[in-house]
Amino acid sequence: MSAQGEERERSLILDYFGKEARICVLRRAAAFGAPVFVVDFDRGPKHFRTLGSFGAQGQVTEQSSMDLLYPARLVFHYERLMALAFALSEKSESALLLGVGGAAMWRFMQAYLPDCAPTLVESDATILALARRWFYLKAPAVHATAESFLAESAERYDAILVDIYNASGPAHEGPRFWARSLDALQKGGCLANNWADFATNRAVRPLARMLEEAAAERGLRSFYVTRRGLGDNLVQYVTASPAANIEALVSSLDAFARGRHFPDRGRGILEGCVMTTDFPAG
Ligand SMILES: C[S@@+](CC[C@H](N)C(=O)[O-])C[C@H]1O[C@@H](n2cnc3c(N)ncnc32)[C@H](O)[C@@H]1O
Repeated sequence: MSAQGEERERSLILDYFGKEARICVLRRAAAFGAPVFVVDFDRGPKHFRTLGSFGAQGQVTEQSSMDLLYPARLVFHYERLMALAFALSEKSESALLLGVGGAAMWRFMQAYLPDCAPTLVESDATILALARRWFYLKAPAVHATAESFLAESAERYDAILVDIYNASGPAHEGPRFWARSLDALQKGGCLANNWADFATNRAVRPLARMLEEAAAERGLRSFYVTRRGLGDNLVQYVTASPAANIEALVSSLDAFARGRHFPDRGRGILEGCVMTTDFPAG
């Protein structure tokens, strides 16, 4: 990284997070395909640590965030939606986390699902090292792409959380990837996938259709949840439990939040959300 390039990147980070933000580290991440950074910043009385990167146009992009006072709290709303995969699966004994990033989902699991065994898969070694150094990741993780991991594994999981993004956007590889992901679902399990920028990125809709089709071929249900206004991420669920359908979302969340002692009983997670079996369009 040239000194000039690094200076420009640092200044973009401070423009985005505020002049008072503290850049902990800025590094190239080869597999991810762009520099990544860790930055600490304050919002009123709250203190955050974010794993960020630069997108295709050089814009700052947030990959994962941690509340420094409450590290198990999921900062991004889409992550709370992803956590509903546990509410929609019949058991929560095992989970596959594809895309470790800043380990937000893993910290959440440690606090609220300590009896669920996580398997973590991440394609970028630098990001894994940052997760250990700055985001409290203590568990072992498989350093591999999600695709190659699934191709070589015969394990099944109650919950599969797919959140794989790199510098060019979604890293999902198409029908074969979804076939393998769904075949790795335990009976009665649930897969949740994060779609970022779905309202503006035309590539997302056909990718989401592929997952819908792979689900339909296996007799599984697919549906979507996002915030009303469609300005936030979209989470697509595929459930293998007949009881875990779109109508049961609110009651599943309620039961899960009570059983797992969620703060505020999970209030606010589904409020103001669109829940639909069709890809939401503006
Ligand atoms: C948005 S972050 C994930 C955040 C994560 N859910 C968390 O709990 O903090 C996306 C991650 O996916 C990883 N990634 C991208 N392509 C991948 C692939 N093909 N296989 C595995 N991980 C991948 C990136 O390196 C990055 O760490």
